[in-house]
Amino acid sequence: MANPRRTSYSLNQLPISDPIPQFQSQTPQTAATLLNSIKIFLKKPHAFPFLLSIFLLLTWVSLRFHRGYSNPSFRQSSYTVSEKDGGYVKDSNANVVKFSSFSSPVMKDKRGWLINPVSLALDSDIPGGAVSCASVHVGEILPRSMRGNHRHHTCNETFVIWGAKTVFRLENNAVARGYSEVTIGADEVAVAASPSGTAHALVNIDSVRSTFFLGCQDNVTNYNVSATDFNVWKDL
Ligand SMILES: *[C@@H]1O[C@H](CO)[C@@H](O)[C@H](O)[C@H]1NC(C)=O
Ligand SMILES: *[C@@H]1O[C@H](CO)[C@@H](O)[C@H](O)[C@H]1NC(C)=O
Ligand SMILES: *[C@@H]1O[C@H](CO)[C@@H](O)[C@H](O)[C@H]1NC(C)=O
Repeated sequence: MANPRRTSYSLNQLPISDPIPQFQSQTPQTAATLLNSIKIFLKKPHAFPFLLSIFLLLTWVSLRFHRGYSNPSFRQSSYTVSEKDGGYVKDSNANVVKFSSFSSPVMKDKRGWLINPVSLALDSDIPGGAVSCASVHVGEILPRSMRGNHRHHTCNETFVIWGAKTVFRLENNAVARGYSEVTIGADEVAVAASPSGTAHALVNIDSVRSTFFLGCQDNVTNYNVSATDFNVWKDL
């Protein structure tokens, strides 16, 4: 609340002469006045709609947060961390190896990370990927968007995925639900391999960042019905 006496006092001072004592003496009083006004306001009946809208807002925020992170199809798989190989995280069921973008296997110097996906997959024992790139795709997946959800029958494919919180799903009939999934963090770099005849999907579950990916295929695939099955999983 404005205090006329205090205002005229501060106006009569040179602007830089004594600003700190002025704020020190004013702040506690202003805070106390504000707190008092809030107390008085909350006791009045017309505070009820105000409180109700705050309650609704908080409910909405908590529901949104809960929904975004509790989708059971995006459960994290169990990982095995190999410390001797620079602390990478590997999921053999989903054929994925992922690194912190600052870890030594991917960041060899302070300029940032740089990898050879084919040799990194081979060195990490990620089987079934491409050993040479006959066809290469580089792309972006916007927040809440998906690529893949298809099964190539005429090529093996190796992926590099980075930039946003992303789910990589790989068909795997050795597990009960028929697929394995790995969640890749926004500050991680992942290499994944999808052998010929295996379905895969890349889902950006980040709300703000874009996923970036590179796909290296060892054969030139015709994206037609006989060479690729589309929309493999209906829940994506
Ligand atoms: C490579 O792709 C061609 C068609 O683009 C197909 O005829 C051939 O069988 C594929 N090779 C393998 C090993 O799948
Ligand atoms: C895919 O990899 C397998 C071995 O893992 C190989 O036999 C096959 O020829 C590869 N496919 C293509 C299209 O090169
Ligand atoms: C579909 O792809 C196969 C091999 O990938 C190719 O032999 C065939 O000609 C293609 N068909 C069409 C209609 O493009």
